[in-house]
Amino acid sequence: MQISTASVLITGGASGLGEAVVRSVLQRGGRALIADLDTVRGEALAAGLGERALFVQTDVTQTGAVNAAITALVNRWGRLDAAVNCAGIAPPRRILGKDGPLPLEEFSRVIQVNLGGTFNVCRLAAEAMAANEPHPDGERGVLINTASVAAFEGQIGQCAYAASKAGVAGLTLPMARDLARHGIRVMAIAPGLFDTPLLAGLPEEARHSLAATIPFPARLGDPDEFAALAVHILENRYLNGEVIRLDASLRMGPK
Ligand SMILES: NC(=O)c1ccc[n+]([C@@H]2O[C@H](COP(=O)([O-])OP(=O)(O)OC[C@H]3O[C@@H](n4cnc5c(N)ncnc54)[C@H](O)[C@@H]3O)[C@@H](O)[C@H]2O)c1
Repeated sequence: MQISTASVLITGGASGLGEAVVRSVLQRGGRALIADLDTVRGEALAAGLGERALFVQTDVTQTGAVNAAITALVNRWGRLDAAVNCAGIAPPRRILGKDGPLPLEEFSRVIQVNLGGTFNVCRLAAEAMAANEPHPDGERGVLINTASVAAFEGQIGQCAYAASKAGVAGLTLPMARDLARHGIRVMAIAPGLFDTPLLAGLPEEARHSLAATIPFPARLGDPDEFAALAVHILENRYLNGEVIRLDASLRMGPK
């Protein structure tokens, strides 16, 4: 895929890792639709990025909203070439806490947003991509999902989050196999600890102690490093059906 001619839908694009992907796609001449729940951040971001960026308020768990975002992109730019799923939530809570067992609704909500939302966007984006005229090599589109190292080493308080991200990792190969006949590649990135608004809320001391658990480089990841991998996946036509850890060799402990 040539990013300079591509139109990319980025969920969670109003903040953190998603925002970095939006900026990288635009820097390479592509077009980016920011699909995010957060209207304030999304509109402000799109307004500063020019006419190759568009914000559509989107809840990834809602089929109508996701279809509306895809339709807005196709109406504006002609075709959907890629979808990068960065929308996610990570409320920490133990399965059994001081106030009793984790309510099933809270567990289900995390699964619904992180796993269900990712799948929802993929299935609807794949439908739009399947209608694309293929490139000479047969490629019609690319899907990139964001898992987490918590998919493999979930920490204390991460039952719901780790399960949702393990689900995202597990989707990768069967989805790539399902969509091979349509010329659509599917990849996932499993980030370690990245410096996004998610972590910016922590005190400086806590950020330092988190960074100290990372072997090398012993610092939080820069969202631009995540975006660089996402852009590489879009461009490298032989990457398919794999989860790539991006974590500076971090292996998370229990807490
Ligand atoms: N930051 C990290 O260290 C890290 C590590 C591993 C994985 N991740 C994953 O990367 C992704 C991005 O994380 P981030 O750090 O950029 O977080 P962030 O909080 O900065 O951004 C997440 C964005 O998702 C949006 N969002 C939440 N629920 C949504 C919904 N239902 N529909 C549409 N948009 C929704 C939020 O409004 C927000 O703009 C998440 O899936 C997160 O789990 C982050």
